[in-house]
Amino acid sequence: MKPKLGIASDHGGFALKEFLRKSLEESFEVVDYGTKSEASVDYPTIIGDACRKVLAGEVPRLIALCGTGIGASIAANRIPGIRAALCHDEFTAEMSRRHNNANVIVLGGRVLGTDLALRIVQKWIDTDFEGGRHERRLGLVEEQKP
Ligand code: RB5
Repeated sequence: MKPKLGIASDHGGFALKEFLRKSLEESFEVVDYGTKSEASVDYPTIIGDACRKVLAGEVPRLIALCGTGIGASIAANRIPGIRAALCHDEFTAEMSRRHNNANVIVLGGRVLGTDLALRIVQKWIDTDFEGGRHERRLGLVEEQKP
C-alpha cells in the first residue's frame, strides 16, 4: 500500500499542484483537496480545510500551495497543531522536518519551477524529525499565547 500525502492549492498554485500530484502519484496515494481549476478561490478556506484533514488524521502531511506561498502559510499557521513551512529551497525543506517537524510544506506556485519544486518536496518527504531539544522548543511554540 502506498503512503498517503495530501495536496491543496488555490488558483495561484493550481498548475504546480497538478504537476506535483501527477509526479508523486507513482509512489504515494495523493489525496487532492482542490482546487480543481484555475478559477479564483479563497486560499484561507481551501488551505484551512485541508489542514484540518491533517489534524483529523486523514493524511499525515500536506503540500499546500498558493501564488506566493505566503497567504497559504499564514492561514495554515493560524490552526493549532499545524506547523507549516514556506520553502523555496531544499535546505529549508530539510530543516523544516529535522528541527520544526513541519507537517505542512508550503510552496509558491508563481515562484518555483516544477523541477525545483519536486526536489524540495522530495527532500521534505525523505527527512525525519530529530526530536530532542527541538521537541522542547515545539512544546514552547504550542504554549504561545495571543
Ligand atoms: C491569489 O491571487 C494570490 O493572492 C494567492 O495565491 C497567494 O499568493 C496569496 O498569498
